[in-house]
Amino acid sequence: MKVGIVGAGMVGAATANALVLGRAADAIVLVDIDRRRAEAEAEDVRHASPFAGGARLLAGDWADLAGAGVVIIAAGVGQKPGESRLELLARNEAVFEDVIPKVLEAAPDCVLLVATNPVDVMTSVATRISGLPAARVVGSGTILDTARFRACLAGHLEVAPGSIHAYVLGEHGDSEVLCFSAAHIGGIPLSAFAAQAGRPLDEAAMARIDEEVRRAAYRIIAGKGATWYGIAAGLARIVRAIDADERALLTVSSVGAAADGGPPLAMSLPRLVGRGGILRTLEPRLDAREQELLQRSAAVLRAAVGTRPE
Ligand code: LAC
Repeated sequence: MKVGIVGAGMVGAATANALVLGRAADAIVLVDIDRRRAEAEAEDVRHASPFAGGARLLAGDWADLAGAGVVIIAAGVGQKPGESRLELLARNEAVFEDVIPKVLEAAPDCVLLVATNPVDVMTSVATRISGLPAARVVGSGTILDTARFRACLAGHLEVAPGSIHAYVLGEHGDSEVLCFSAAHIGGIPLSAFAAQAGRPLDEAAMARIDEEVRRAAYRIIAGKGATWYGIAAGLARIVRAIDADERALLTVSSVGAAADGGPPLAMSLPRLVGRGGILRTLEPRLDAREQELLQRSAAVLRAAVGTRPE
């Protein structure tokens, strides 16, 4: 499948590399207002391609996106140290007003995959501007947070991350919800597994894991200015699910029924992802506290969307 990437900054370039190394695309087109940067990133990633499947890399113009099955939107400004994702909204909405129509003129049948933060609100914005069915506008959402959560649990329990079913839902941001109650390993509830493994998950351990996941981006940004490898791998995972029509269960963002019962809102819920984007949204099994936190997260996103100029 041909994949377009709009924005050849660190996230866009790392995503191109992740797609090549993961053999998730046959051809990748990088589009950026800084053409020289796009060409340099395309050439650099092109040199990885012979080691992994031989995907073609091109720095192109909008028209070169024609035929792309997925176009990843990674354009916009990123968080500065200490800046929240929601504070990026006004600047990145202006970018989307410019970019989205150009993408759809070239690739009207693509799935839009939004990475730009605040990703949930930007997924709402992309859905509004594009006029596409909500299922064809997918936000990376909490796919990365879910990976962080599983990695933290894996470290605590000394189990492979792939054997842990645990999800982060809601906003990809400060109000996200780590769903400990529904987590399980091989069908064994998390708390029971932890006890069996002699690695009890008491309140202190859960609070430590929550902090490690929730504040991960802030720590990384403070140290190196931005994050890009984790999100790139998450975006490549979504592309693979779309290209292979996997019907994979991923925590991604898309405009739909909100946890607070209000008008449709983009936030991360467990969703089946396949050809054409979102195939189905599942109703998560949460305890009362998690359900309340998810409604709070929806309220945070609703306030952010509400502040958007109509
Ligand atoms: C992070 C960015 C992608 O969480 O929001 O690393």
